[in-house]
Amino acid sequence: MLDPLQGFVVFLLVTVALLGATVATGLKAKLRAHLTLVVFTVASLGLAIYYAEQLGKLYNLDAAGAIKPVHLALAKIATLSYLAPLASGVATLRNRAHRKLHLKFAIATVVLTVLAAVTGAWMILAAEPLAG
Ligand code: HEM
Repeated sequence: MLDPLQGFVVFLLVTVALLGATVATGLKAKLRAHLTLVVFTVASLGLAIYYAEQLGKLYNLDAAGAIKPVHLALAKIATLSYLAPLASGVATLRNRAHRKLHLKFAIATVVLTVLAAVTGAWMILAAEPLAG
């Protein structure tokens, strides 16, 4: 079993790598690999969120100040934003004319994921570790 910091760092990096591979296979129209990678990306994101919550319990996050509500809002929006490429991806399977919209949603999800990761790291660095 990984400790919360190890687990969070590992699954955050794995999620970003899988997301990059998802985008690359989408652009190359390698559909089978693309859909498989989507499943692994979402599973890895779930594990990163699980470890992030465990990690958060080891810190007084209120001590991080204004970055805490900013990060929590971004993290929720980023997670919800996965619904947009999922829905537009299904629409693109039915009609390839939706590719452009799917690409826009995919870029938005990638940007939001990176913003959530950066503000999350910032929040942990600004927080106080709890004793014990
Ligand atoms: C995090 C989720 C996803 C990301 C980041 C993503 C990203 C991309 C990108 C960048 C493209 C290339 C678009 C273009 O060339 O204009 C693409 C194509 C595509 N994606 Fe996704 N996608 C995601 C999820 C899905 C899902 C869930 C499905 C289907 C259920 C899907 C189905 C497709 C299809 C059908 C194409 C077009 C492939 C072709 O040109 O033949 N995608 N995706």
